[in-house]
Amino acid sequence: MSHIVLGCAASAALHKGADLASKLTQAGHEVRCVLTGHAAQLIAPQHFEALTGQPASVAEFGAGRRTAMDHIDLSEWAELLLFAPASANLIGNLAHGLGADLVSTVALATPQDVPRILCPAMNPHMLANPAVARNLDQLREDGWQVVEPGEGHMACGVKGRGRLAEPAQIVEVVTKVLGA
Ligand SMILES: Cc1cc2nc3c(=O)[nH]c(=O)nc-3n(C[C@H](O)[C@H](O)[C@H](O)COP(=O)(O)O)c2cc1C
Repeated sequence: MSHIVLGCAASAALHKGADLASKLTQAGHEVRCVLTGHAAQLIAPQHFEALTGQPASVAEFGAGRRTAMDHIDLSEWAELLLFAPASANLIGNLAHGLGADLVSTVALATPQDVPRILCPAMNPHMLANPAVARNLDQLREDGWQVVEPGEGHMACGVKGRGRLAEPAQIVEVVTKVLGA
């Protein structure tokens, strides 16, 4: 069973990220969640800690700090990076190599041979935006496996493509990638 760093951005689908953390833990993986500061305003990190039995991190400065250098410690611990839900903002940060927060800094610090999976979630117009499409193409080129979002009713009230893939489907992709 593997060490998984689950990065979560601020999304209406964040509760599915929590469900994913729980399902992966039940499957026997050790899951350490890293939330963006905005995500931590939607669901408290403590909830992710309760579901995984592992520390959840938000920032490496101030009260969010866990170790002397959280981004290095998490990147050395990770056997798989799984970012779900990934916001348009997080995707932009990753595509441009920015260390805008702990989630994107862990991605920068993690060696390239560690597999990385990205699960976007956003409003259909955001997903169709050429800048977001460009960023996703760049990340595919950089070695990210992108789990395509599904179609249906969105929390923002519109129908279309942009729903976070279902946690059970993401677990299947993780299992395949880990060869477990
Ligand atoms: C309730 C709520 C739900 C949101 N859902 C999404 C979403 O699903 N996808 C997205 O890209 N942005 C969404 N946003 C906008 C992002 O939260 C915003 O772009 C934020 O800056 C992202 O920060 P982060 O990437 O640091 O988490 C949502 C905002 C709010 C307030």
